[in-house]
Amino acid sequence: MTLGEDDLVAWGRRIGAEIRPPVFIGLRGPLGAGKSVLARAVARGAGVRETLPSPTFNIVFRYELPAAESVVHADLYRLRSVDELAGIGWDEIVGDEGAIVLVEWPGRAGGELPADRWEVTLGYAAADPGKRTVELECFGEPAPVPAFPIGVR
Ligand SMILES: Nc1ncnc2c1ncn2[C@@H]1O[C@H](COP(=O)(O)OP(=O)(O)OP(=O)(O)O)[C@@H](O)[C@H]1O
Ligand SMILES: [Mg+2]
Repeated sequence: MTLGEDDLVAWGRRIGAEIRPPVFIGLRGPLGAGKSVLARAVARGAGVRETLPSPTFNIVFRYELPAAESVVHADLYRLRSVDELAGIGWDEIVGDEGAIVLVEWPGRAGGELPADRWEVTLGYAAADPGKRTVELECFGEPAPVPAFPIGVR
């Protein structure tokens, strides 16, 4: 599927509004593909109201939601090896039953990704700089997420 930014954001908001923790979503795609745009939309949809910075200097951001739930947004781009995962509290993040976890550059975690997860792959659309190709893949048995943006096919 190919989506403009508004549709990608609408899908992300709907994911955030409809899923309940625990859920893990890996966000793949090249620099500037829209991984952070999608992650922030999911956080907004889940009810996060505070400012949402891009995780450029910090690797992990955590936003608290009511009912002891949270959204965790991590960007593993600058991780140099899987050995550094312990230093960012990876086991706690992956094992957090109350969290919606969104991870950019999940390939940096090697074999340490949870078995039950979604992966979204974003790519540049050849003909249109304002659009992105979007693929959603399921691994294991994660909680269901809305598969397509409303009104887009
Ligand atoms: N259809 C689209 N979907 C998402 N973003 C788009 C789209 N079209 C244009 N953009 C723009 O592309 C940029 C995406 O930036 P974003 O920070 O989300 O990328 P990223 O994948 O997180 O990159 P990085 O790997 O550097 O973290 C934004 O400036 C956004 O406005
Ligand atoms: Mg990003």
